[in-house]
Amino acid sequence: MRYYILFGPPGAGKGTQAKQIVEKYHYLHLSTGDLLRQEMAAGTELGKKAAELINRGDLVPDEVVEGMIRNKIASNRDVAGFLFDGFPRTIAQAEALDAMLTEFGGKVDAVLSLTLPDELVYERILHRAQIEGRKDDTDRSIIENRIATYHDKTEPLISYYKGHGNYREIQGNDTIENVFTALCGILDE
Ligand code: AP5
Ligand code: MG
Repeated sequence: MRYYILFGPPGAGKGTQAKQIVEKYHYLHLSTGDLLRQEMAAGTELGKKAAELINRGDLVPDEVVEGMIRNKIASNRDVAGFLFDGFPRTIAQAEALDAMLTEFGGKVDAVLSLTLPDELVYERILHRAQIEGRKDDTDRSIIENRIATYHDKTEPLISYYKGHGNYREIQGNDTIENVFTALCGILDE
């Protein structure tokens, strides 16, 4: 069983690349953002609590996303692998994931990190706002908070995974096709 993380700031192209990767490699795509948005759409208690945080550009509590991921891993033992998108996002989540995978007899095979400068994050997300209508995409100040949260809470994971020797960086500021080719190069190693 393979375990890959698609890492990067908001708008880096995680979701876009994840779709193509799972089509080619048949891994299970687990996006904590998508899972939380499903809860929001279904109007569950969890969804209502998450909506407040997400629509401000803040993270939801670690335990919430860790629980979601654990359930998905535990209930899908027959897949070729997992592609995490938007998880882990804090050092605590990364440590929880390591502990979980040890329990399931695996490890993070590689962290596929898409880079993108902050100016391009705004450009891409404001463009997507017109297409997808995600509430956290519509307002510049919310995007600003998502970027600040990324630098503050999520970027420290780069050193964490570099220390584990499984960190791989890919230029996100390239065409969708070129980024996909670079990712496949790593996945095919
Ligand atoms: P989440 O849904 O994970 O959002 P995000 O990390 O902000 O990332 P995005 O989905 O905005 O961007 P993406 O990298 O997927 O880019 P995409 O491919 O769409 O999280 C949302 C919220 O949920 C968080 O803020 C938090 O509140 C909560 N949450 C989620 N996970 C959590 C966790 N683990 N812990 C705590 N809270 C959590 O591309 C963006 C746009 O650019 C698209 O329009 C696309 O078409 C375009 N594009 C993509 N690639 C290219 C390219 N190469 N060239 C030109 N355009 C491109
Ligand atoms: Mg996404």
